[in-house]
Amino acid sequence: MAIKNVFVIGAGVMGNGITQVIAEAGYSVTMADIKDEFVQRGLAAIGKSLDRKIKKGTMTEDEKATVMGRIKTTLDNNDAKGADLVIEAAPEVLELKQKIFKQLDAVCKPDAILATNTSSLPVTAIADATRRPERVVGIHFMNPVPVIKGVEVIPGAKTTAKIVAASKEFVKSLDKEPCEAKDLAGFIVSRLVDVLMNEAIRCVEDGNKPEEVDKAMRLCCNFPIGPLELCDLAGADIVLHGTETMYAEFGERWAPAPLLKSMVKEGKLGRKTGRGFYDYTQK
Ligand SMILES: NC(=O)c1ccc[n+]([C@@H]2O[C@H](COP(=O)([O-])OP(=O)(O)OC[C@H]3O[C@@H](n4cnc5c(N)ncnc54)[C@H](O)[C@@H]3O)[C@@H](O)[C@H]2O)c1
Repeated sequence: MAIKNVFVIGAGVMGNGITQVIAEAGYSVTMADIKDEFVQRGLAAIGKSLDRKIKKGTMTEDEKATVMGRIKTTLDNNDAKGADLVIEAAPEVLELKQKIFKQLDAVCKPDAILATNTSSLPVTAIADATRRPERVVGIHFMNPVPVIKGVEVIPGAKTTAKIVAASKEFVKSLDKEPCEAKDLAGFIVSRLVDVLMNEAIRCVEDGNKPEEVDKAMRLCCNFPIGPLELCDLAGADIVLHGTETMYAEFGERWAPAPLLKSMVKEGKLGRKTGRGFYDYTQK
């Protein structure tokens, strides 16, 4: 089935980035959220991101207008009824995602593909909220969406090979590369990156200075960003949530570092609260 109309649920960090790259690839796309102010904030973020391209000389004002013209917005997920592909990017709460997929199941065309952008919840558990789990798949974009080339494609237990293939084709049409991952906590990327961040936090517990840990990984391993800087960027609460999810699935080897837990308790979440491993209040 040819994908022409895409419906994105959530206008937050991921939802607006996903909407942007889909519109840039020439699709007609609708971005949904629960409040108009969230939709407007999402649209403004897309506008700003495209303005950066204009500044860099990789996009013209006319092209920006064409891309923005492909984006519609709504506050009603029932408007997904005409969509060929729905990508859900609502908050990382299983019950909420299951509720959304139940609603999508009731309104969407029988041949629509229903995708979730979840970072760590089981795709199968989300798919099983519908009567068509064979058409539900994980399409996991990375943050920032317009920049990162790789996208994880995660088949649920019942997802058909046809839906997986169509999802990969769609990802390629956005000039991105699909990486197929098993439906296990953290898939591939979060599973490996969270383990690195957790162990970097244990290095700090053992007396290493955060700036030395990050410098070592940037200069000795050619990482573009240190693991503790990455933790501050993602948010300690998000990293703890991911680590706990994987601890539940993989056991002892995944126990969150005690320092990570105490930082979350103290509100030292990283950039978003002004303090994490580093101080952002002066920057
Ligand atoms: N932030 C990241 O770095 C990142 C990376 C990869 C994947 N993800 C995943 O993407 C998803 C979204 O994350 P985010 O960071 O964009 O969250 P966010 O909080 O920035 O955005 C979520 C948006 O969904 C909206 N929403 C809530 N309920 C809704 C509903 N019923 N219908 C429509 N919209 C609704 C919220 O109002 C909010 O604007 C999560 O599953 C997250 O795990 C996040």
